[in-house]
Amino acid sequence: MNFDEILRLEDFEPLARDAMEAGAFDYYVGGAADEVTLRDNVVAFGRRRLRPRVLVDVSRIDTSTTMLGTAVSMPVALAPTALHKLAHPEGELAVARAAAAAGVLMHAATFSSYSLEEIAAAAKGPRWFQLYFHRDRGVSRDLVTRAAAAGYGAVVLTADLPVPGYRERELRSHFVVPDDAGPGNYRSDSGDQDLLGYFTHEIDATVTWADVEWLRGVSDLPVVIKGVLTAEDAGLAAEHGAAAVVVSNHGGRQLDRCSASVDVLEEVVDAAGGDLEVYLDGGVRRGTDVLVALALGARAVLMGRPYLWALAAGGEAGVARAIELIRVELDNAMALLGVTRTDQVTRAHLM
Ligand SMILES: Cc1cc2nc3c(=O)[nH]c(=O)nc-3n(C[C@H](O)[C@H](O)[C@H](O)COP(=O)(O)O)c2cc1C
Repeated sequence: MNFDEILRLEDFEPLARDAMEAGAFDYYVGGAADEVTLRDNVVAFGRRRLRPRVLVDVSRIDTSTTMLGTAVSMPVALAPTALHKLAHPEGELAVARAAAAAGVLMHAATFSSYSLEEIAAAAKGPRWFQLYFHRDRGVSRDLVTRAAAAGYGAVVLTADLPVPGYRERELRSHFVVPDDAGPGNYRSDSGDQDLLGYFTHEIDATVTWADVEWLRGVSDLPVVIKGVLTAEDAGLAAEHGAAAVVVSNHGGRQLDRCSASVDVLEEVVDAAGGDLEVYLDGGVRRGTDVLVALALGARAVLMGRPYLWALAAGGEAGVARAIELIRVELDNAMALLGVTRTDQVTRAHLM
């Protein structure tokens, strides 16, 4: 399929709906309960207004930056998302190749369909490993040790899923992951449970900040805490030795009616006070969204669903097009905002 006619990330969604099995699509698209937060993530970006500066030489735009010292071609990374084989048989391997070719950072999820070693072997791009604490701590230790050995650059602890959110679409569909798409990192004795049951079975709800210290001792990898929405928790992340936080509500899939990510970004950035890098995800769909997040102090953003839709629609080529689209938009928006480098975007660029 030729993706040249796809001009915005959201155009991939209907293609994914056609390509995917209905229960799997529901798992991807859905949020928790009334999906207030899911919608708000996008709407809140739409409320923000930029303050462009004019008569600046913008003939050369450089979108590159670093994330914890790792060079990336733009401040947009691919968020950790589970079970990519539900979208496409090449799953995470296709995502890894597209991300590496474009020089963007990808995350391999604990619940990836391919193993973290297979993903690492697929392409040599920048990549971080996302961790859920397993009830058996030995499983988590093993995953982190393997990630370090396989060249992952950081461990991203997802802190906002002690238990799965109240996701009505999934409760209705009772979606069971087909055997050939199931998690590739380790064997589970969870049986034929639906996805919410599976997560409940696997993930440890007793985890606290003290376990962040434990995690830091398992490997030399920097620890990133994903799912921080308050100044208080940003402070605790710094206190417990995290290197970065991701301001995230898990794409509206966990606690419905918590804030849109962008609405609490400034609060977290202020609390981080330069001790932590701050990233954001949730509702990033446009190059201008990236600029809004940078203006509020994020170092980079992650996107989730858009690249999953692209993966379902066209495998590696689809993901490559999705990455290209946001890069083209970002490049264009930077020129029109009057900046040539991402570190020139400041609070003064936002109303
Ligand atoms: C289908 C799907 C699966 C996800 N799986 C994970 C996961 O395994 N671990 C995790 O930390 N976040 C997971 N997330 C959340 C994403 O990392 C990210 O926070 C969210 O998708 C960002 O919002 P966006 O989809 O609006 O870009 C998942 C999101 C979706 C849509």
